[in-house]
This record gives sequence, structure tokens and C-alpha cells, in this order.
Amino acid sequence: MSAIVIVGAQWGDEGKGKIVDLYTETADVVVRYAGGPNAGHTLVVGEERIVVRLIPSGILRPKARCIMGQGMVVDPAVLVGEIDALSVRGHSTEGRLFVSDRAHVIMPYHPEIDALREHAGSAPGGTKIGTTKRGIGPCYEDKAARRGIRMGDLRDLGRVQKLAERALSEWAPVILALGGALPDLNKIMGELAVFAKRLLPLITDTALLLEDAQKRGENILLEGAQGTLLDLDHGTYPFVTSSTAVAGGAAVGAGIGPTRIRRVVGITKGYATRVGEGPFPTELHDATGARIREAGSEFGSVTGRPRRTGWLDLPALRYAARVNGLDGLAVTKMDVLTGLPEVKVCVAYDTPEGRTRELPIDHLGTAQPVYQAFPGWSEVLASARVLADLPDTARTYLKFLSDETGVPVDLVSVGARRDETIVLRNPFAE
Ligand code: IMP
Repeated sequence: MSAIVIVGAQWGDEGKGKIVDLYTETADVVVRYAGGPNAGHTLVVGEERIVVRLIPSGILRPKARCIMGQGMVVDPAVLVGEIDALSVRGHSTEGRLFVSDRAHVIMPYHPEIDALREHAGSAPGGTKIGTTKRGIGPCYEDKAARRGIRMGDLRDLGRVQKLAERALSEWAPVILALGGALPDLNKIMGELAVFAKRLLPLITDTALLLEDAQKRGENILLEGAQGTLLDLDHGTYPFVTSSTAVAGGAAVGAGIGPTRIRRVVGITKGYATRVGEGPFPTELHDATGARIREAGSEFGSVTGRPRRTGWLDLPALRYAARVNGLDGLAVTKMDVLTGLPEVKVCVAYDTPEGRTRELPIDHLGTAQPVYQAFPGWSEVLASARVLADLPDTARTYLKFLSDETGVPVDLVSVGARRDETIVLRNPFAE
């Protein structure tokens, strides 16, 4: 038995979907442990391109069982839509998709509150966060305030109605102050009843399923969403999401003991991106940034927003290696850098206190990145299957990332498709 965690080492969108799909070849169970439909994990198999937002990225492997853990927030309408969309395309979730009875329900008023706040620029923290407006923050707020509705509650809609009335009595002044209209709870309950009927057979104590899988010696893949720098505790607060995105969240959000986790793989792009507001010191506002955005199709898979692009930030990657305990790196989108005359990496920061190799996470606004430049490469990388297929310059770049973080490179992705990958180590191997 092996349980491994796949975690985003940057600001999300690192290409976790592809890597999880790939590793699921040797996994029996795939578990999403945090976040909700703010994620958009893109899977490309053959000519087919599928984006999953709630369902774990292992779903395209027919033998894999997929679990949505208790650390998640679930929008029932989105989940039903996703199940149906997969089914139409011939990917059945029947009998192999399970949802934790303790995952929290995103109610229709949660996205509304999220959007009203964003519009008013009055998200908690007193500013615009640039959220995905999927109701993630308000839903986790209800959870922490102990007035949330859990997926298991859908078994008793009378109870859900009472819980919703209670939550709404707390939210009503907020909604009104932001110029919104109070939601029609009867309408909400009518719609929820339809979704509940569809979802009830999937809802169970998923931590028990995981324990059974461990007893049977199965391989478990714990799939992170968002990324380290968006983590509620470890990210660029308050410009973060509302869940525990780091590897430690896998134990909590899946209901598996930390001693059962054997390896943590961090996913990073060969450059950096960020969606939404918040500090991003290595951001490029020039033609190179625009080129990376176009070549890398850096537009949000959930919101369609153009992603901010920039150079890779090594202090940030070292930070991610530390807070996640990374054992391996998967470096994605190396093909996007093809054609750049030089590739830069931030290796340190100049701060009022002097130069540092650490990430000055709470002072990123005033810290100045210090760059090291590497010669670029012009070769198309998509057909590379072993390291030796890569140009020397790309190999030098990868070795530098590994040497500077102290984390070996397990995998290099050179294209969106499953086969456009160089696998150096399978994390499930002993
Ligand atoms: P929320 O998670 O919708 O509350 O958004 C909070 C912040 O996290 C915003 O900056 C979002 O753009 C960002 N965010 C949330 N989910 C993702 C993701 O899956 N990829 C990248 N950024 C995300």
C-alpha cells in the first residue's frame, strides 16, 4: 500500500490534472481533499479534452475509484452536471465515485454572496480578492462558523431547510448591505431535492472506504487543488483561497492519518502564473509575458480569465518544498518556453533588510526579485520521452531547479497529452 500526495507548488494551475491522470495508471483510488468547483483540472487524452472541477482527475481511468473527501466544498448542481457531461462522453462514474458525507454543500446563496462581495471590493480582508465567484469562501465560512450544511444532511431535507434558514439569517444583513436580494429558500429547496436524489447513492463515509483500501494494500493518490501560495495558512494571505491546499491538508481533507502518506510530489510549471489579485513579484508585463500566456493557453479553465504570467520563483519553490515536504518535482509546460532567447529565474530577493534566498511572503510588495538568466532553446519538445531527448539548455535549466530546491525531478511534461511526458520516477515505486 502506498498513499502519495500531488500538490500544487505555485498559485494553482500547475497542470495537476494531467499528472494525476497519468499517475492514476498505477493508482486504485484517487481522492480530492480540498477546494471545490474553483478548480479546473484539464485532462487531454487522445483528441479529447475534458475539464473536471469537482470530480477527481483519475476519473478517466475506468478502474480507478474516485473519492471527494470531507475537506471539499461541493456544489450539487455542478457535480450533477459534471457527472452527466462525463457520461455523455462515454465516461461512466457509476459505482466508482463517492462523496464524503462530511463535505460541505455550496448553497446557491454562497456564489451570490461571493460575487456581491467581489463586485463591491469588500471581500474579507477589506479588498477585492479576485475569487472565482463559485461560493468557496462563504461556504467555508459557514463551515468554520458551525452553521454549514454537509452532504450527509441531504438525506434529510427538512434538516437542510432549518440549517439554511439559520445560515441565511446570519447572511441576510450582509446580502442586503451589498445591494443583493434575499434568496427564495423554497425555490432553492425544490432544486436541491432533485440534485439530492441523484447524489444520495454516492454519499458515504469515505474515510472508511480509504481505510478498507489501505487494508487491501491499494495505491491511493491524494489530489491537491489550487496551490501552496493560495493556501489559507501558507499562501499570500489574504489573497488566498479558503482551504488547506498544502500536502498537510490531504490527511485532514481525506481522513487518512499522516503516517500513512509515503510521498509528496509538487507540481510546478517551468515558469509562473497567477489568477486573481495579490502579489506576484516575478510577473511580466511585457511581450514575453504575453507570449507565454498565448503559447501556454494561460486562460482560467473555470472563469476564462487571462492568467498573469511571469518567471519561475525559486524562493517560492523552496518555500513550497519546505511547507509540503516535497520528495519529488513534476515540472510542467516546459514546451511553452521553447523559442524564448533566454529564460530567467528569480533566485533571491532584495529586501530592506538585505538579500535573502527565502521567500519574504508577507513583504512581497516591497521585495525586489534577483534574477539569473539561462540560454533558451528553440527545439519543439513534444516528442521528448527521455531526458536525453531534451536540448542541453533545457536539461541545464531543470538541473538548476532541482539543485536549488534540493528536490529531484520525477517528471517533465512537454505537452498537454498523456504521452507528452518524460517520467523519471514513479512515485508509487518503492
Ligand atoms: P476562491 O478560491 O474562488 O475563493 O478564490 C481565491 C483566490 O484563489 C483567487 O485569486 C482565485 O483566482 C484563486 N484560485 C482559486 N482556485 C484556483 C485554481 O484552481 N487555480 C488558480 N487559482 C485559483
